[in-house]
Amino acid sequence: MAVIEPKNSLTVTDNRTGKSCEIPIENGAIRTIDLRQIKVSPDDFGLLGYDPGYMNTASCKSNITYIDGDKGILRYRGYPIEQLAERSNFLETAYLLIKGELPDKERLAVWTYNIRNNTLTHANMTKFLDGFRYDAHPMGILVGTIGALSTFYADAKDVANEESRKLQVRRLIGKIPTLAAMSYRHSMGFHYVLPDDDLSYTGNFLSMMFKMTEMHYKPNPVLERALDVLFILHADHEQNCSTSSVRGVGSSGVDPFSAIAAGCAALYGPLHGGANEAVIHMLKKIGSLDNVPAFIKSVKDGEGRLMGFGHRVYKNYDPRAKIIKEIAFQVFEETGRSPMLDIALELERIALEDEYFVNRKLYPNVDFYSGLIYQAMGFPLDMFPVLFAMGRVPGWLAQWIEQVKDSEQKIARPRQIYLGEDERNYVPIETRPKNRVDEQKFGICRL
Ligand code: CMC
Repeated sequence: MAVIEPKNSLTVTDNRTGKSCEIPIENGAIRTIDLRQIKVSPDDFGLLGYDPGYMNTASCKSNITYIDGDKGILRYRGYPIEQLAERSNFLETAYLLIKGELPDKERLAVWTYNIRNNTLTHANMTKFLDGFRYDAHPMGILVGTIGALSTFYADAKDVANEESRKLQVRRLIGKIPTLAAMSYRHSMGFHYVLPDDDLSYTGNFLSMMFKMTEMHYKPNPVLERALDVLFILHADHEQNCSTSSVRGVGSSGVDPFSAIAAGCAALYGPLHGGANEAVIHMLKKIGSLDNVPAFIKSVKDGEGRLMGFGHRVYKNYDPRAKIIKEIAFQVFEETGRSPMLDIALELERIALEDEYFVNRKLYPNVDFYSGLIYQAMGFPLDMFPVLFAMGRVPGWLAQWIEQVKDSEQKIARPRQIYLGEDERNYVPIETRPKNRVDEQKFGICRL
């Protein structure tokens, strides 16, 4: 008997017309453009895929980061996040993400030197910073200053040129800590601190943040390593909101500074990079262990979310959260235990047993404990998303480079399902019906 080979295709029958068509399956996906052949009439536009929030749409093929959300697996270029967190450092991980392989000693030395060589910003940047109000959110400043870098480096527009891309990568990874620290010091009214080449990437950042009158700032090695590992854990996370923004904006062919500024803007939102800040606000609001059960009840009643819990992809414990929880204990040994840690541990304990969270597969994510660590290290709350952005820059750059080199990529341009008015004629203002609600609204606006 002849064996029937399974076909790598999907047969779709359109019940409106009774017609069938066969659509190829490649890498476990169909190309939604293939659905366009499904039409009820020759002038029909063809079938679209409708997917708000891209719940089931792959926007690219990628070789950078692998996540299995059900099993709680995260790998950069094939290397498990647990191994990188234990054995690598942030600059080496950045190299891995961007170049695809771990560097040998010589390559790592050159890479580190090149990044160190790009930590200074143009002197005009301080004037630019002066324009921000004293209470400007550092993340808003970071979005603005990264975008402004594109005006200092006109050569960055040459995105098709590999040498130019390499230079912009060094500039971006080199200058982000400087801009991040400047944004903090601006808000504090402190003088800016120049980079110190004797320190590690992360040690230098701590120096630019916290150095006061001492000749040489000596970072606490436990805190320096903890922050470096946190940067590793944040370095990439495949096609999340900010990375998709970098790719979306980058798909227009704009320079990487503008694309990365867009990524920062996306990361600023409370559902993305702002969640670690929101966790601290939540813990403060809860205030004491006694209030935890009532707070959990209010979340279940739909009065708010348990910030730092839940993830679009992880339907299991976020592997980064596991590592961060361990780091939290190491950091608190140095800095003293935050009373909020106990509230967080109790929230986690209850949530992991509670039907509401269990049924929805809501587990702690990367933001649940990271805010507590940042706070213990002395970072103000509004610096938290900035720290997330610093860690994420190599991932954004790796994804941007992959996109620029991908001949299949086109300018990002989703379709829509138009449900608005059909064509209608313009009505002169004198003859339009009065709308009292609108008038009231406009009245308020004028005030
Ligand atoms: N607390 C309480 N309920 C939640 C939470 C939460 N944190 N997250 C999701 N749910 C519920 C939600 O109400 C919904 O319930 P129902 O089915 O009864 O309507 C269900 O779980 C599914 O939620 P969803 O909003 O459809 O899930 P999503 O995949 O669109 O959202 C998320 C993912 C991260 C935006 C969401 O879980 C959330 O808002 N979490 C809190 C904010 C947070 O911690 N964000 C950091 C994400 S990790 C860092 C990053 O990558 O940026």
